[in-house]
Amino acid sequence: MGGKKRILSGMRPTGPLHLGNLHGALEQWVELQDRYDCFYFVADWHALTSNYESPEGLSDYTMEMAFDWLSVGLSPEKSTLFVQSHVKEHAELFLILSMITPLSWLERNPTYKDQMAQLSGRDVSTLGFLGYPVLQAADIIMYKTDIVPVGEDQVPHVEITREIARRFNYLYGKVFTEPRAMLTKTPRILGIDRRKMSKSYGNAIYLSDSPETIAKRTAQMITDPQRARKCDPGDPGVCNVFEFHKLYTKKEVTDEINVGCRSAALGCVECKKMLATSLAEGLGPIREKRSYYAQRPELVAEILEAGTKRAREVAAGTMEEVRSGIRICSRLR
Ligand code: TRP
Ligand code: SF4
Repeated sequence: MGGKKRILSGMRPTGPLHLGNLHGALEQWVELQDRYDCFYFVADWHALTSNYESPEGLSDYTMEMAFDWLSVGLSPEKSTLFVQSHVKEHAELFLILSMITPLSWLERNPTYKDQMAQLSGRDVSTLGFLGYPVLQAADIIMYKTDIVPVGEDQVPHVEITREIARRFNYLYGKVFTEPRAMLTKTPRILGIDRRKMSKSYGNAIYLSDSPETIAKRTAQMITDPQRARKCDPGDPGVCNVFEFHKLYTKKEVTDEINVGCRSAALGCVECKKMLATSLAEGLGPIREKRSYYAQRPELVAEILEAGTKRAREVAAGTMEEVRSGIRICSRLR
């Protein structure tokens, strides 16, 4: 893997993955595997920052995240797949970085302010939650990461990471690289209610959904809001169903749908049925691979263990440099 630039990204295990995660992140992660030395990890400690009051699902979600990843083509042969909490060095680096991170950098973090407002039902006025970007910085710079593929909402965190890396290097000598964010090209995927697809909105279609569930969910999708009756012509340009056709249905058929919709020859009910068929078909191979892994959790655990071991080796190397930089006594073994 030598010579390739290093990529790192993580996801919080807060539930099963949906089409928004697939098109907004995972597809890109898969594609990057051949050109870069990729590290992808389950950010289970990060999930705890906002979910510490109800950790029940954490263990299952961690495994399910791995099922989802493997089923869409993340490959342990190409990439290092690991679990954050099993590389304790992240916690040590977090602690050290917390010494040099001014509170003001964290308090002005826009993602922090947004989340504070959104999570109003939960008490997130904790040190861990404020320090979220410091832990994320530790995740990233631990591996001397060059590029961090993330969604727009995470860009401020990558910015803070750069500042922290720069500050460490300035104070103690150059150990870290300054990573940059890479945004996905795919536009935001909308849920069946046309809001951003999100587990918490209950508007998602999941990678693990059966064809029956997919049919039910697509039947509920909001279409062109201006089209009240079948005899009204529709506008695929503003229809979320059509957006999905573009991703999942053959080009010729999509073109026909476009014409049929605009001339009112095609009704929305029919159009959604067609979408359900292409979605079920397109997701078929993912669903099959997913059930293969879901039936073999020991195999998946082994895959994660192997990746975690590799991550730990890299992390251990970085931590030697860090400890020596901050003059931790090295006489003791
Ligand atoms: N904060 C990220 C998110 O919610 C998850 C994450 C944790 C992450 N550590 C990271 C992403 C390091 C990229 C790099 O999506
Ligand atoms: Fe959307 Fe299809 Fe209805 Fe046209 S026919 S508005 S593309 S669901």
